[in-house]
Parts: sequence; C-alpha cells; structure tokens
Amino acid sequence: MSIIGVDGGMKTVRAEGRIVNLEKKIKQHSDIDGCIGIAHTRWATHGMPSENNSHPHRDCSGKISIVHNGIIENHEDLRSVLISTGHGFDSDTDSEVIAHMIENFIDQGYSFVESFHKTLSHLRGTYGLVAVFKGENKIIGARMGSPLVVGVGVNEYLIASDITAIVKHTKDVIYLDDGEVVLIDGGDIAIETIDRLKIKKSVTEISWDYLGAQKNGQPHFMLKEILEQPETVQNSIRGRIDFHKGTAVLGGLKDVECKLKEIDRIVIVGCGSAYYAGLIGEYLIEQIAGIPVEVELASEFRYRKPILSQRTAVLAISQSGETADTLEAIREAKRKNVLTLGIVNTVGSTIARETDAGVYNHAGPEVGVASTKAFVSQVVVLCLLALYVGRENGNFSKKEGLELIKSLTELPKNIKGLLKSKDYIKDVAKQFSDINNCFFLGRKFMAPIAYEGSLKLKEVSYIHAEGYTTGEMKHGPIALIDEGFPAIVLCPKDSVYTKTLSNIEELNARKCPMICVTTSGNTDLDKFTNNVIYIPNISEYLLPVVATIPLQLFAYYVSCEKGLNPDMPRNLAKSVTVE
Ligand code: M6R
Repeated sequence: MSIIGVDGGMKTVRAEGRIVNLEKKIKQHSDIDGCIGIAHTRWATHGMPSENNSHPHRDCSGKISIVHNGIIENHEDLRSVLISTGHGFDSDTDSEVIAHMIENFIDQGYSFVESFHKTLSHLRGTYGLVAVFKGENKIIGARMGSPLVVGVGVNEYLIASDITAIVKHTKDVIYLDDGEVVLIDGGDIAIETIDRLKIKKSVTEISWDYLGAQKNGQPHFMLKEILEQPETVQNSIRGRIDFHKGTAVLGGLKDVECKLKEIDRIVIVGCGSAYYAGLIGEYLIEQIAGIPVEVELASEFRYRKPILSQRTAVLAISQSGETADTLEAIREAKRKNVLTLGIVNTVGSTIARETDAGVYNHAGPEVGVASTKAFVSQVVVLCLLALYVGRENGNFSKKEGLELIKSLTELPKNIKGLLKSKDYIKDVAKQFSDINNCFFLGRKFMAPIAYEGSLKLKEVSYIHAEGYTTGEMKHGPIALIDEGFPAIVLCPKDSVYTKTLSNIEELNARKCPMICVTTSGNTDLDKFTNNVIYIPNISEYLLPVVATIPLQLFAYYVSCEKGLNPDMPRNLAKSVTVE
C-alpha cells in the first residue's frame, strides 16, 4: 500500500501473505495520514510470493508507486534497456518496469501524467494499472486486457479491478474499456485514450446490494453461498418463464432473435467450473434443442484455429465476466465475425459488454473463490436457453416444455429440502477428511458433475481428486482402486442407472470405499456402502443441479475439518484476469 500524505510525502508499506499481515504492519506506522492511496493483493505470475515481489512497486527515486494486475509480456526487454541506463530493480516481477519507465520519462522532462501515457505506449501485454506520484494530488489508472472500474462516490473516487471491492462505498461506477486512461486530480476526473483523446463515459448504477456480499452469519462465504442456492435459482428463473407457450423468455437475446434462428451449431467456451457447466449445457442443448454443441476450454480455443461458419454461435460462460482466457476466446470468435453470446453473472463486466447478446445469471455477488451458486445458476440458465431454442425451432413440444418448466419452478423448493441433509454430509465428510486421493464418478449428465465435484474438493481441501466418467474406469483408472482409494459415485435413478450400478459392482469387488449419491427412495446402494446421500427425484435435465450440492457441502466440510479456510484457497484468485 502507498499513501500520499497530507504533507505531499509518500509512505509505502508491504507485507507477504494475508492482508491481516499488512494491517498489523500499518498499525505500527502512526504517521500514515492521507486520502490518496493505492494497494494491491498480488497473484504471483512472476517471482515468488515475497515482500520484495509484492505491490506497490516503486522507481529508483521512490517517488513513483504503482500497482498492476495483468502481465507485461515485454518486461524482460524493457528491464534490460532500463538496467543499461542505470536503473536498479528490487523485485523479480514484470510490474516493476512500469515504475522505472515512468521515472525514465520524468527524467527526460515530461510531467508525471505525460510520462504515464508515454510508458503505456511501450507496454505489451495486459494491465489494470494505477499509479501515484509523491507531491502530486493525483491518481492515474489505465486498462488494457485486465479490468478496471471507477467508483464515483460522495466526495471521493475509487478505482478497482472488480466492483465487489467498491460496492460498499458506492453503486455508481464507470467501466473503463481497453486503451483508456483515467486521471483523478483533486476533485476532478478525466478519461482519455492512451493517445490523449478526451472521452466521455457514462456512469452506471450497479444493483448489487452490499449486504449481498456479507456472510449472513455463516462462518464462510462458501457455506453462505451454498445455502442461498434456492434463492439463486429463483432469481435466475424469475420473469423468464412463459407458462402459456411452455417456453423461456430471455430478454437479453431479443436483439439477436433472427440471427439465432439461423444457428446450426454452438461452441461453448469457459474455464474451470464454467467449462463444466458448459459440458452440461452440451447435453441439454443437444437433447432439448437438437442443435450440435461443442465445449472448448477457453484457454485452448484460439490456439486451435477454430473452424467457425457464419451459422455457428460462440457462447461464453463466466461468473466474473473478466476471465482473460474466456474473453480472448470471445475476441477470437468476433474476429471470425460469428455471433457471440454470454452467460455472465457480473453485470457490466467485459465479457457481458463485448458479446453480441447474452443472459445474466442474477446469482448476485459470489465471494468464495470456489464457484458454487454461480455454477448452479449457469446450469439453470443453460436449461432456459435450451428450452427457448428448442421451443423456437420446434424440437421440444409444448408438453415437454411445460414439464420442464414445472421442474424448474419446483427446483428452489427441492434444493431447500436437500440442504436439510447438510449435517449428515458433514458427518460423511468427517470420515473421509484424511484421505489422500479420491475419484468422482458419473455418467451422462452426472459426468460433468463428477468433474466439478473433484475440482471443488481439490480447490478447498488440497486433496488429490480426479473426475471420471464411470464408463472410463475399466479403460485404465480402475487399476488404482483398492481399499485405500475411495470413490464418490453419482448414481441417480436416471436413464443410465443400470450401467452405473454395474460400475459400482466393479468398484465394490475391488474393495473401494464409496460414497454414493442417488435419488431418494432408492435402497439398491445400501449393500455397497453406509454412506448414501439422497437427492430429490426430479427431471433428469435438472439432476445436475441437485447432484452438485452435496459435493459442494462435502468439499466445504472436508476443508473445515482440515482446518483450512475454504474461502481463500492457496494459489487461487476469484477472478483470473491473466492468460
Ligand atoms: O469467472 P469465471 O466463471 O470465468 O471463472 C472461471 C474459473 O476460473 C472458475 O470457475 C474456477 O474454476 C473456480 N474457482 C471453480 O470453483
């Protein structure tokens, strides 16, 4: 953190590890007093997590202080040039070159603001960047590829990379676009391009309630967000059902209605949980709308030279709407001139703004790093999308539409009932909290849920877990199974139930300790394990929603049992804005 003091001086305090370490250090500096400041929690891209590598970074004179999110791709070239002209570096980060570049231009006689602009024109890569200069009452920020938003408060401005950081202070924000620079000078704000052309930007009011981002009395955001899933689903479907026509109403797609009718293939892109939601979307859209779907990891998409015809739509799924890989996939699709769509939770985020049309999740802010309610809302929105397209193209009858709508509207109540088994799941988690390895297995709709369950456990408990389709076990992985290698098997009474049951027999024959998730009323599994978790017996299309919730709770309780903080898994960030 760097603060410009009321006397014009600048104080910088940095610490390694959790924010609380920084707080402790700041308390030792009674002389910190000022109302202009910058700070950053760093996600290590270059260099170890250490105090020297933490932000803010300064120039040689100590007058310039910067914080940077993103990656400066040409930092090594810039660093060599700067070293050859006498600059000394304090860190291994790519970011530090920015402070020295600004200093370099100031030494040539340019003002701080001019030097900042000149520096930007030499940077290659991505940045959400903010700088201050000792003795000047200014903050200057710029955006290229990494998000930056300006909060307009009462007698104050705030700059952040995510609105959740500032929503407590103001709901009025200005979203910066790539290539834009914001200067806050005393009480004035000005926005320009890197080439110094003035830009007028409008202020947007965000509707998220600050209270929505609090823990609601729960020990962790992850648990709070798991428990609020009945309301999440309710919010995702609210106002989006046409009971008369047996279809979904998706206002965000209105502008592209005609184009959508032409579409004969959909490519879904996303990362992590969003990618797994996409895999469920593949089954849903293909079955309900009869349109072929492919799901691609966004980080691979543009490197495959994707073949996209004018009748293909590329659909990005992202909670944050800022994931760099997903954003770049959408930009690649736009370069190919195809229709781009988004299923995004964060209103006004970059992906929401850059796609041609889309549907918001309305899940509210998700704070826990592990995606829970956002994932569930993504599946629900995908179901609405499949229903809308299927009803439009006639692949899904009105009767089928109404049946699905009934299941959708009953989903909040069903989730509420399921959440009552949380203490039972906690007990099961206790028994399994000291395992080192684990398989998550499922078929058809349950396969992506197995991948998602394994990701959840990995993220918050650091236990090695692998998600597999149950049918693949016999092609290799079953070699690992013995009495010390447990499996969590998703086995609802769905269209592939008997197949999954045979796979359970195979695991049982190899003494695999199992947790089975099945639909209520099914007693077939009692002979294999005492650990059977029951989920409601609902439409197969929506089973993924109710099957994922016990796995979220399982991961959460294992994490707590191990004494970890599930909200802040090591090495992870909520929004991954670097490629
Ligand atoms: O914000 P996004 O949905 O684009 O994020 C994608 C992934 O980074 C995210 O789902 C990640 O895998 C979660 N931590 C999973 O719990």
